[in-house]
Amino acid sequence: MGKPAIAIARAIFPQIIERLQIHFEVLANQSDELWSQPQMIEKLRGRAGLFATGTERIDAALLSECPHLEICANMSVGYNNFDLQAMSAAGVVGTNAPGVLTETTADFGFALLMATARRVTEGEHFLRGGHWTRWAYDLFAGAEVHGSTLGILGMGRIGQGIARRGAHGFGMRVIYHNRSRLDAATEEQCKARFVGKEELLRTADHLVLVLPYSAQSHHAIGAAEIALMKPGATLINIARGGIVDDAALAAALKSGKLAAAGLDVFEGEPQVHPDLLSVPNVVLTPHIASATLPTRLAMANLAADNLIAHLVNGTPLTPLNAVRRDRRPFDGR
Ligand code: DGY
Repeated sequence: MGKPAIAIARAIFPQIIERLQIHFEVLANQSDELWSQPQMIEKLRGRAGLFATGTERIDAALLSECPHLEICANMSVGYNNFDLQAMSAAGVVGTNAPGVLTETTADFGFALLMATARRVTEGEHFLRGGHWTRWAYDLFAGAEVHGSTLGILGMGRIGQGIARRGAHGFGMRVIYHNRSRLDAATEEQCKARFVGKEELLRTADHLVLVLPYSAQSHHAIGAAEIALMKPGATLINIARGGIVDDAALAAALKSGKLAAAGLDVFEGEPQVHPDLLSVPNVVLTPHIASATLPTRLAMANLAADNLIAHLVNGTPLTPLNAVRRDRRPFDGR
C-alpha cells in the first residue's frame, strides 16, 4: 500500500513538511502562491488530506470534484473557511487548532487594546513625522485602561484570557456576553459578569470582540450597535473580519462617536476599507494576533497531528464535525 497523499496549501515550517512526509506523499505549496479554487481542486484530486491555514474555502463545489478527500485540517482556531454542512454530507472531517494559541492571542488582544486606548501608534506617527516640538498637557491624551469597564463579546478560551488579564492585571470591571453563560467557577476565575448584548454595548469603555464568524455573527457590530455604545468608547476586533461593518465603524471613528478602534481582522482582508485607512484613530495590524513563532509552530503541529491521527490512526484529535470514516475509503491505503 502506498502512503496516503496530502496537500499543504501554503508555505509552512520546513519541519512540519518533513514530519508529514514520514506518513504521507506530500504536495507542498512552497512558493506560497495562493491557489485559485480551480487550482485547489486540481491539487486535491486523488488526495486524502489538506493542510489548510484557515483561508482556503472548502465547499460543496470543491468537495464534489475531490472524491478522495477525507480531512481538511486548519492550523487556525477559526474555521469559517469550511462549509461544515457540505463537508459532513461529503464525509470529510474538518479540524481546527484550539487551545494552543489562547494565551498568545489574548496577549495580543490586550496589546491592541492598550495601543488603541493610549494612542500609541498615533503618537509614534506624530513623532516620526517630525511634529514633536514640545510637551503639552493634552498631547495624545487617551482613555484610562485600569479601573475602566472591559466588555467582551464572545467568551471562549481567548475571551477568558482577555478577561483574566483585564481583571487581575488592570483592575478592570469585566462584563461579557456569549451565546451561553460560563459556569460560576469560570466566571469567578475571570472576575467576569454575564450581561445582555445591549447592556454590554451601553456599558463597556473598551469592547473586545472574540466571537467566531458565522452567518449569525455577520455585522454583529454595525451602525445600530455602534449607536448603542458609550460615546468615546474603544472597539477592538481580533475575531474575524465581517463581524464588524467596517464602513459603519469608519464613520463612527470619523464622527468621534467612538474614540478609537484596534483592528487585526477586516472584511475582505487583506484588502482594508479605504475609510479605515484614512482615519487616524485606528490601530491596524495584519491578522497577527497568534503570530509568535512558538505558537504558530504549535498550531501547525496540531494540524499535522490531526492529519496523522485521522489518516493513519483513524481518529482526529480536534474534529469540528462527526463523520463516519467508511464513507470515503482512500483507495491507495
Ligand atoms: C485563528 O487561529 O483563527 C487566527 O485568526 C489565526 O489565523
